[in-house]
Amino acid sequence: MSQTATRPSHIHVTPNESGFGAEITGLDLSQPLPPDVLAEVKQAWADHAVVWFPDQPLTHDQLEAFTLQIGPFGHDPFIAPMEDRPHILELRRAPDEKARNFGAGWHSDWSFQDAPPAATLLHSKVVPPVGGDTLYADCARAYDALSGTMKNLLDGLVAIHSAALPYGTKGVFAQETEARTMKIIVSEEAESPVYTAGIEGMTQAESAAILGFLYNHMTRDEFVYRHKWRANMLTMWDNRCTLHFADGGYDGHLRVMHRTTVAGDAPH
Ligand code: SIN
Repeated sequence: MSQTATRPSHIHVTPNESGFGAEITGLDLSQPLPPDVLAEVKQAWADHAVVWFPDQPLTHDQLEAFTLQIGPFGHDPFIAPMEDRPHILELRRAPDEKARNFGAGWHSDWSFQDAPPAATLLHSKVVPPVGGDTLYADCARAYDALSGTMKNLLDGLVAIHSAALPYGTKGVFAQETEARTMKIIVSEEAESPVYTAGIEGMTQAESAAILGFLYNHMTRDEFVYRHKWRANMLTMWDNRCTLHFADGGYDGHLRVMHRTTVAGDAPH
């Protein structure tokens, strides 16, 4: 990843020291970006995988319009979207909510889809005074740090992804006893064989050993960036080469985020 602190012309990119994650300023995302500026944003996103734009008070229309400048909308299953906004999910947790905060587990969004999203965009509306960070893991750097022998082993493997664990009729959300503001739609559709449930051609024990190693490896401190939110910040991550984890720690406080996704290609 590039370590360049600034880019010429339109935008100012300030990367984290690791090169993973960068702040972008000098833009007004409420207006359509000229093609050369958009190209710079996309290049910064490709270089740093997670980019965030502070001080962007966007309306729903503006969030949708910026998302569409990145690419066509992805398909968001299992969660009821905002009324009249089929492409915006509201991630809302009320101050008195006891249910575990949404996204509290390492994942990439909708990885069980044939073509998972290329990008996720998350816009902060109400940020709690404590907690509520999002952690991001740099899977590209984690892969680079593996031995050649391990890379060779992994390169020949195919993981099985499934939505059943969280969203199936016997899944985590279906068994929840605490009230939740967000409307999760548990479904038999989630029971299809898709989510990192195993590795093709391996026993459960073999899969668990390899996947367990990988999850531990990818989420080591050196690969993780802890993102702190301020209200009206838009963050966009590459959903193909990162994992993320929504940290809790804000019981008693409201947190409201609006999320869109950009369609990706089928992995091969
Ligand atoms: C998510 O998993 O997409 C939500 C992340 C967050 O709310 O911080």
